[in-house]
Amino acid sequence: MNETITSILNRRSTRKFDVSLKVDSSLIEQILEAALWAPCARGLETTGIYSIESIERVEEIRKMMEEKDGNDSFYGAKVIILFTGRKDNLHDIRNASSAIENAMIAAESLGVSSCWIHRACLLNDEKYHDFFKAIGFKDEEEIMGSVILGYGEKTITKGRNKSFIHRI
Ligand SMILES: Cc1cc2nc3c(=O)[nH]c(=O)nc-3n(C[C@H](O)[C@H](O)[C@H](O)COP(=O)(O)O)c2cc1C
Repeated sequence: MNETITSILNRRSTRKFDVSLKVDSSLIEQILEAALWAPCARGLETTGIYSIESIERVEEIRKMMEEKDGNDSFYGAKVIILFTGRKDNLHDIRNASSAIENAMIAAESLGVSSCWIHRACLLNDEKYHDFFKAIGFKDEEEIMGSVILGYGEKTITKGRNKSFIHRI
């Protein structure tokens, strides 16, 4: 098995982070670059990639999430990457999803733990408009998903069901 497939197979969601360990900026840069090069419909780049790394901004987002969701759905992670697209646009949801997956595989290949956090979409709420505008969102832009990064324990999963593969 080559290194790419090994990274794909070894990637597991991490929901328990050692917050004393910081992800190096150069690793984040590589993960963002991998996300940027994800396939996108008609070659149109529509995915906004917002890597929230400042302690203050991460805390603001975490507080908003607690307000919305009743708990910290980002599991204490210190890096939150938000992936955006145009509201109600099906291509943009898919574009963002392919960028998210690229980011997570890249993270795994660099030894960085990650988890896809769809619940970040709860922050698509008018009351947070000013915050997201301040970090660069355009009016038509909304969160399509997010990835948290850090170092921690992979969640144990039951494995995958091979019967979903059909070779005809
Ligand atoms: C579209 C999508 C949304 C997800 N949203 C969340 C989420 O909000 N919170 C979370 O803890 N995990 C979330 N996950 C991670 C899945 O729960 C996880 O990928 C799944 O349980 C399989 O485990 P694995 O990633 O370790 O293989 C999401 C995954 C996908 C693909």
